[in-house]
Parts: sequence; C-alpha cells; structure tokens
Amino acid sequence: MGKFQVVTHPLIQHKLTILRQTSTGTKDFRELVNEIAMLLGYEISRELPLEDIEIETPITKTIQKTLSGKKLAIVPILRAGIGMVDGILSLVPAAKVGHIGMYRDEETLQPVEYLVKLPEDIDQRQIFVVDPMLATGGSAILAIDSLKKRGAGAANIKFVCLVAAPEGVKALQAAHPDIDVFTAALDEKLNDHGYIVPGLGDAGDRLFGTK
Ligand code: URA
Repeated sequence: MGKFQVVTHPLIQHKLTILRQTSTGTKDFRELVNEIAMLLGYEISRELPLEDIEIETPITKTIQKTLSGKKLAIVPILRAGIGMVDGILSLVPAAKVGHIGMYRDEETLQPVEYLVKLPEDIDQRQIFVVDPMLATGGSAILAIDSLKKRGAGAANIKFVCLVAAPEGVKALQAAHPDIDVFTAALDEKLNDHGYIVPGLGDAGDRLFGTK
C-alpha cells in the first residue's frame, strides 16, 4: 500500500486557514496556493535520493551530496492544478511540466479526459500529480490511469493536494493502492453537490477569479 500523509507543518496549517476564508481574494488565494504547494513540495522532497560527488571549493577538493535518481515531472490536473505548479517549480526549477485536462460529463457526471501533454520521457521520471482538491477522486484516478498507461511506474507517482475528503482518499487508494498521497488537510466529508466540507469552495474559480 502506498503512503497516505497529512502534512501538518504549522506554516501550512496557518496558510490553509487563510486560504479557506471567503474573505480571501483572488490575488492572496493564488499566492497562498503556491506557498502551500511549495511547503508540501519541501516535505515530500525529503525522500529524494542523494549521491556523493567530488567537487572543488576555492580551498580544496571534497566529496559532497547531490540529488541522484530520477528527474522530476510536475503534472497539474487542469484547471486548478495549475495553481500549484509555480510553488513546486521554485524548489525544483529544472522539473518538466505535463498537463492533464478533464471535464465532467453532464450526463454521467464522470470525468472525461480531453488533454494529455506530457514530457516524452515521463516513464523515466518521478512524478508529482497536483490538484488542490481531492473530492470524489474521479479526476485523480483518471489522471493516474493515464500516466500508468503511458509507462509511469506506480512507485514514481505521488499525488499532492491541499484539501482531501475521506471519500476521495478511499476511492483513490482503492483504484491506485500503489501510489503515495499527500495532503495539507483531511476534511470532514463531501456535501450533496460534491464540495468538500468545510473545504474552501471551488478552487479553480477562486484561483482564476471566475465566479
Ligand atoms: N473541487 C473544488 O474546487 N472544490 C471542492 O470542494 C470539490 C471539488
């Protein structure tokens, strides 16, 4: 079973409390999403492997640590996932960014994939799939299906969100028990309209000012 972790750093909790408030406007919301994503990225990247290299300082030759292993890809689920990309890129500026777009079919209410644009070597990369809200889990499940279909190994996929509903975590873990899931908060439940309670409303609308 993959790891499930609520990342409870005090700065993350503080920023998330501001993010949730109705009174927080688009500019602050956008900045906070990026800041929380960066802090989540910092925690998650603790596990990246290191190797020794020899370097030369102005004083002497020395053996020091450098990141080894797979290169990174950040894959936002459109639209709201875009809000988390810059925060993580500020930590790992060389990461490539893929996009997975989905819309909700009005009749079946199921997510339908309309765009997949990934780095060519996605099967060789460590992947952070990002979406602020893990609600029903439908989009996350489909996005990870899509990555696995293109050769991404489960051990290389981490799903990263800001707020998760228990229903979404359960569905995602049932569909993809082999990936790691990280969130800044595990909320109470989903309401009848598919919103997370207490949540923060529609993350995409609040990020882009489209309400
Ligand atoms: N998507 C959102 O943006 N907010 C929710 O509460 C649930 C899904």
